[in-house]
Amino acid sequence: MDTHSCRKHRKAENNPDNAGPVPEQQPWKNGISVQKDLTEETVRFFLADENATENFGKLLGSLAADGDVYCLSGDLGAGKTLLSKGVCQAVGVEEEDVVSPTFSLMNIYAGKVMEVRHFDLYRLDSPDELADIGFYEYVGGEGVSLIEWGDLFSSELPPEYLQVNLSIVPKGRVVELIPLGPRYEAISREVLRHVNAGA
Ligand SMILES: Nc1ncnc2c1ncn2[C@@H]1O[C@H](COP(=O)(O)OP(=O)(O)O)[C@@H](O)[C@H]1O
Ligand SMILES: [Mg+2]
Repeated sequence: MDTHSCRKHRKAENNPDNAGPVPEQQPWKNGISVQKDLTEETVRFFLADENATENFGKLLGSLAADGDVYCLSGDLGAGKTLLSKGVCQAVGVEEEDVVSPTFSLMNIYAGKVMEVRHFDLYRLDSPDELADIGFYEYVGGEGVSLIEWGDLFSSELPPEYLQVNLSIVPKGRVVELIPLGPRYEAISREVLRHVNAGA
């Protein structure tokens, strides 16, 4: 499993009008642009490179609270695991601990801020297997739950969650946020606000 740990930090620069320092740009905004503000809550962003995908995950992680559920969908290689690494970093999980749960089905990471429960449902065939891995106990409990390929078992997901759709486009990735429930509508609006503030 390849990892991408490149981080960019822009230093605050003095603005030429001597009006004081330009506010430091948050690292997560690098490479992220609003592609379409579809409705007030459903939004779509372009991610220019792999750093942008990881940074987008960091932004989602910085907004997460105990009990939140993010369902990550998209083709193989779309960036679900990389985005998950960003979420993990934002809640204080050591970067090298985060690996794809494609074979383990579920990984649990103890982050400094909160726990992360990271699933990959790609290899599962039936809801019985979900019960076997403790899916129903773990999802929505303490910490934040990340569910790669959650759309394969959409009837088994909790009633409210943030649907995160990643797609591969010629020059990068597109990510769409579809919030189900007021908690996730608020997160979606916050993401839009943060990205706009960095534009
Ligand atoms: N915005 C982007 N632009 C170009 N390549 C990207 C971007 N985001 C991720 N990638 C690449 O796509 C791949 C994503 O892999 P991974 O996160 O394992 O996908 P998934 O978990 O969806 O199968 C990695 O090789 C990564 O370098
Ligand atoms: Mg993956």
